[in-house]
Amino acid sequence: MSEDILFQPSTEVQNVAHVKSMKQYDEMYKESVENPEQFWGKIAEKDFFFKSPPISGKFLNYNFDVNKGKVFVEWMKGAVTNVCYNVLDRHVENGKKDKVCFYWEGNDPDDYSEITYGNLYKQVCKFANVLKSLKIMKGDHVAIYMPMIVELVVAMLACARIGAVHSIVFGGFSSDSLAERIIDGKCCLLITADGVYRGKKLINLKDIADGALKLCKEQNFNVKNTVVVRHLGPSAPLSGKKPTSPAAKRPCTSLTTNITEGCDLWYDDLMADASEECKPEWLDAEDPLFMLYTSGSTGKPKGVVHTQAGYMMYAATTFKYVFDYHDDDIYWCTADIGWITGHSYITYGPMANGATSVLFEGVPTYPGPERCWQVVQKYKVSKFYTAPTLIRTLMKYGEDPIKRFDRSSLKVLGSVGEPINPEAWLFYHKVIGDEKCSIVDTFWQTETGGHTMTPLPGCTPTKPGAATFPFFGIVPVLMDEKGKIIEGEGEGYLVFKQPWPGVMRTVYGNHPRYEQTYFTQFPGYYKTGDGAKRDKDGYMWITGRIDDMVNVSGHLLSTAEVESALVEHEKVAEAAVVSLPHKIKGESCYCFVTLIDGFDFTSELVTDLKSAVRTKIGAFAQPEVIQNAPGLPKTRSGKIMRRILRKIARNDHDFGDVSTMADSSVIEVLFANRPTTN
Ligand code: WTA
Repeated sequence: MSEDILFQPSTEVQNVAHVKSMKQYDEMYKESVENPEQFWGKIAEKDFFFKSPPISGKFLNYNFDVNKGKVFVEWMKGAVTNVCYNVLDRHVENGKKDKVCFYWEGNDPDDYSEITYGNLYKQVCKFANVLKSLKIMKGDHVAIYMPMIVELVVAMLACARIGAVHSIVFGGFSSDSLAERIIDGKCCLLITADGVYRGKKLINLKDIADGALKLCKEQNFNVKNTVVVRHLGPSAPLSGKKPTSPAAKRPCTSLTTNITEGCDLWYDDLMADASEECKPEWLDAEDPLFMLYTSGSTGKPKGVVHTQAGYMMYAATTFKYVFDYHDDDIYWCTADIGWITGHSYITYGPMANGATSVLFEGVPTYPGPERCWQVVQKYKVSKFYTAPTLIRTLMKYGEDPIKRFDRSSLKVLGSVGEPINPEAWLFYHKVIGDEKCSIVDTFWQTETGGHTMTPLPGCTPTKPGAATFPFFGIVPVLMDEKGKIIEGEGEGYLVFKQPWPGVMRTVYGNHPRYEQTYFTQFPGYYKTGDGAKRDKDGYMWITGRIDDMVNVSGHLLSTAEVESALVEHEKVAEAAVVSLPHKIKGESCYCFVTLIDGFDFTSELVTDLKSAVRTKIGAFAQPEVIQNAPGLPKTRSGKIMRRILRKIARNDHDFGDVSTMADSSVIEVLFANRPTTN
């Protein structure tokens, strides 16, 4: 039904929009895909600083077809720039020194501060000098494991300034996951903080970081130094921040931070003597900017590598058009910088545009469900970006906590991370946006660097739940299993023909995996791994992952990753994990475990296994259901039939053809063993 409802863009947004009509969008789109050099060349020249400009005729070089040799993408290779210079120095030099870059809003509503472009610039230069004093140089890899504080932005931009490659690990990951990423990414420095409050919960980040470095050491991988930001501990610094109000909960006395002399260094001690002057390192457009790990269907996370100029230009341009950014906007993205959404749409995209953003440390429902709208009212937020899981959570609390606050400043509401169901879309539009905002459902991935399928808020008529049309430079194609192109109405694999500036360049340390994962099944195309449907009006609807991935509250997990955490338990012989639809989280993990003979399936074991997954991956990955599976449905060649398990998890008895199954009697046993809850 939602296929037939059409919402026109907000007139308020449309009147001032960069793109005001579908005709204008069509013209720009046509140029972007037919003449990428011309389209992006103008943007590179107008919106960015290059020490040496892109070389005409060498603007784009690529091969997307594995059958024709190595897959590679190069945008503007040979041009010289610095991303940190573009997101900071440029604005400071152009009269935006005193413009607020971030309103920092702490976990506790009484704890807040702000930092201007000018002050952030000084902090970044200082920390870049600190990094140099620790012998970090161009090309070195730096792991960052931090809460959502200004120092996190300082750390990432200081890396960018000196040409070091940052690898940020989301602060909700466990020691095991952090260690795995530090080792695989060959990081030579770790930057963390003493601790953070998430809602009422105190998290000792330094302890988790120590645990990770201990695991690294056991695998003969030594990280010499850890820089620790004193965020909660005694005498928390106010780097670049105004004094917080007296009711602030910091400093926190219940936190103990273990410091090892010679290895651990306090951030504020190092910053005290650092100079405020640091020239940027001039880099090739194709030098790496950062890597960011994302789940892979084999279970081992992939280090997605993004490079300098293409990524910067794509993050900035998508930000400008998709949120229809204007200089007086106040923008707020609720994501964590530890994920790609935070990289592209908290740090790089908004800052490249010189935007003012809210940097939010807290939990959107703490201290109560009204927190988001309190913040929107406080800062007069005009562009807001969040995930469907939050919208669904807020729906539970009804309209009152929303309606009590002034949201008249809101103009564009964005959604990201998972398919948004029409009910949540309509709630976003009607209740949160008071029917006067444009909704942009943005489909993209860690790998794509920025938005790929999305409405533009000043021109695209939207349908609740549709990601609509491609962004500039993206050529979406639907294919069937065998690579036959589906024209017109239909459903299939969503793939992209030809590169856009933000596409990932490689999997760190494993280029064959890059080719295998994204370019082998459909040579000549980038495979997203998602399915999509094209309706009669040409609108695209993302249907979700086609591979063995689960999307829990917008966090992508591979089922193999969860399975390997489960089988590490001494009582588990085999495990199979499938996704199960979840009202709030979108999807959750439903786990089948086969125990080693002689062990009983008890509620203690269920608790143990859930906590094993928390320890191995992180709290957000905790399974929803663990079920006893004396046997698993397998093909004669021994392959687990997940299709059947998905049906059992959903209590759906219509599982179709089971003729390839080795022993179909296990199905009955599995239905009988379905737990009511655990
Ligand atoms: C899913 C997050 C439907 C999709 C930016 C994709 C979405 C994966 C949407 C990437 C959307 C993201 N509609 N599905 N608007 N946005 N996804 O790498 O399955 O954390 O492949 O990047 O999230 O997740 P990732």
